[in-house]
Amino acid sequence: MTKRKLDNRERREKGNDPCAFAPLRETKPDNASFSQRRKGAKNCFRNFRGSLIEVVKVWVVLGGLVFALAGQSPQQKSVSETVGGKSFTPPPEWRPTHAAPGARYLGNAVCAQCHIQTETQHATPMAQALERAAESRILRAHQKLNFQSGKYSYTISREGDRSIYQVSDGNNSIVAPLLYAFGQGKAGQTYVFELNGKFFESRVSFYNGINGLDYTMGAPREPAKTLAEAAGRLMDSADIKDCFSCHSTGAVNGSKLQLDQLTPGVTCEGCHGSGEKHVALMKSANPKPVDNKQIINPGRFDTEGQTQFCGSCHRTWTHVQLMRVQGVANVRFQPYRIFNSKCYDFDDKRISCTACHNPHEELRKDAAYYDAKCTACHQTRGEPVNQDKRGASCKAGKLRDCASCHMPEYEIPGSHFKFKDHQIRVARRGETYPN
Ligand code: HEC
Ligand code: HEC
Ligand code: HEC
Ligand code: HEC
Ligand code: HEC
Ligand code: HEC
Ligand code: HEC
Repeated sequence: MTKRKLDNRERREKGNDPCAFAPLRETKPDNASFSQRRKGAKNCFRNFRGSLIEVVKVWVVLGGLVFALAGQSPQQKSVSETVGGKSFTPPPEWRPTHAAPGARYLGNAVCAQCHIQTETQHATPMAQALERAAESRILRAHQKLNFQSGKYSYTISREGDRSIYQVSDGNNSIVAPLLYAFGQGKAGQTYVFELNGKFFESRVSFYNGINGLDYTMGAPREPAKTLAEAAGRLMDSADIKDCFSCHSTGAVNGSKLQLDQLTPGVTCEGCHGSGEKHVALMKSANPKPVDNKQIINPGRFDTEGQTQFCGSCHRTWTHVQLMRVQGVANVRFQPYRIFNSKCYDFDDKRISCTACHNPHEELRKDAAYYDAKCTACHQTRGEPVNQDKRGASCKAGKLRDCASCHMPEYEIPGSHFKFKDHQIRVARRGETYPN
């Protein structure tokens, strides 16, 4: 069989448009080298940006792209999974952040009837990415929280199962019960409250690192000009949809916000899509072994597909370009960072998100666990040469704790948390942060 590299034009004509970033691709389109594919993708992006951004506001593009990236657009063809010749096409318009129109979610309790993943998944930060204020562990554990910013004093006080947010300038106060708590406080827990029928994001957030309140990331870090501004940021409807679509399940159906339907946090069906057909099939009177289990298994995506899948919330290379986040602030976007690393390969499963992370379990902290992931590709000094290992051995001769040197930690100012840089590399002392 003769294999040859295709250029971008040919690839596009063959339907393998590198601009499409089709996330659910599983079959290898050709053997174009990784660097070629990456270059293709980046060039496409630049052309794309040139022609589009001038006309449309960034957030409109982002909205459209999130759609194209994170799931299936109805125009996209052949992005179905193919497993041993059998294929399963996810429902049109499904993506991890948005339920397909009309989809019905059954809830984790149903999955628990048959799957052990439910025993550990509920304890992950992802499963707890959103809580109602009544249930927030952080708010329940803190009867009173205070913060001072110039003349403005902030308090969050617990009253029964409510948390009352009060901001005062000495003369006047704004008082509102908190509705939702976003995040588990590692890099912040931010609150949403309602005032005169509108949603606001609290100007202060709780941080585990200081066990108290500080300015919300992204909020101005100086005293506000007005009391209203001091209380928080008015959220527009796009904002509200965005926050809830990544931090909860079923909040957005198609393009409609449906807060009454949401389940806080990322649930089983948040990642696997509606389980309605799957459960019906598995409970049918005579279940035969079938290839098509009527449910999405992201384990079947290729590496780039998985990066796009997780990146629909953790943010991909394209998201970061469109958001124009430069410098250390983009270290929290792991799919973007790893894409820039020399280790990254579109097709090599050993560098996929799930090679290092089991999304059903809590994040592993032990260095030895990750060492094995690196040495799956990198030669270890002294071991016989292994053709499958395309990565060289450590030039500094180290045998363990690979990530401690090659995935350095960076603190985003104001986050009170150090993120692990997924742009795996030789990090030199005093280097500027590589974008
Ligand atoms: C009545 C039992 C039952 C229930 C309830 C159930 N499943 Fe399954 N599920 C199965 C069986 C059986 C398989 C096939 C296992 C295998 O082949 O190894 C499966 C397979 C899967 C797979 C892998 C599919 C693939 O193509 O590899 C996923 C993902 C999955 N289930 C998710 C869920 C989710 C999410 C829920 C809750 C909405 C759920 N299941 C509810 C029985 C069930
Ligand atoms: C629907 C959106 C969504 C998707 C899809 C998603 N994540 Fe997350 N993930 C989140 C949010 C939100 C958080 C932050 C949770 C918090 O700290 O409150 C998070 C946190 C994490 C964490 C940090 C856990 C910790 O202990 O701090 C890891 C690891 C992670 N996700 C891995 C993954 C992987 C791997 C995938 C793809 C298989 C994935 N995520 C897909 C939304 C998502
Ligand atoms: C595109 C998906 C996405 C959107 C939109 C989004 N988030 Fe997140 N958020 C995440 C992911 C993924 C994480 C975990 C990685 C990180 O810490 O940056 C996270 C982390 C956080 C954290 C820190 C949690 C912790 O425990 O460290 C807070 C607080 C937060 N988000 C609040 C918000 C609020 C408020 C909004 C709306 C203004 C919002 N997010 C919009 C995906 C999203
Ligand atoms: C953050 C996204 C995410 C969430 C939430 C999630 N899963 Fe998964 N699930 C995945 C990914 C990614 C894979 C593929 C893992 C792999 O191949 O390594 C997977 C694989 C599976 C499989 C197939 C396992 C196998 O060994 O082939 C089952 C079954 C499953 N998940 C059930 C569940 C259930 C039940 C829940 C809820 C308790 C859940 N998942 C929550 C992302 C998620
Ligand atoms: C080669 C291994 C490896 C791969 C591949 C990998 N990670 Fe990580 N990841 C790590 C290590 C190591 C940590 C830090 C664990 C700790 O806190 O000790 C980490 C931490 C994280 C965290 C917690 C926040 C932070 O930055 O410290 C998130 C979220 C995360 N990874 C998401 C992802 C996503 C999404 C992907 C796929 C794009 C991915 N990771 C791929 C090794 C990996
Ligand atoms: C999918 C296979 C794969 C995995 C997994 C992988 N690497 Fe790599 N890595 C490579 C390849 C291929 C290169 C480029 C050739 C080389 O320099 O060896 C590379 C390059 C590197 C480089 C040199 C980068 C530079 O900028 O010069 C370092 C350092 C490195 N890897 C460390 C790690 C560490 C640490 C891990 C685990 C956290 C890891 N790699 C995981 C394949 C991988
Ligand atoms: C104490 C810090 C440290 C640890 C731990 C460490 N390395 Fe390194 N590594 C370095 C330094 C420094 C260099 C650059 C050496 C030079 O260029 O002279 C390097 C270079 C490399 C390179 C680049 C080789 C090349 O051809 O340029 C790879 C690949 C690598 N390390 C992989 C690993 C792996 C895999 C592990 C874990 C088994 C590991 N490293 C552990 C510090 C470390």
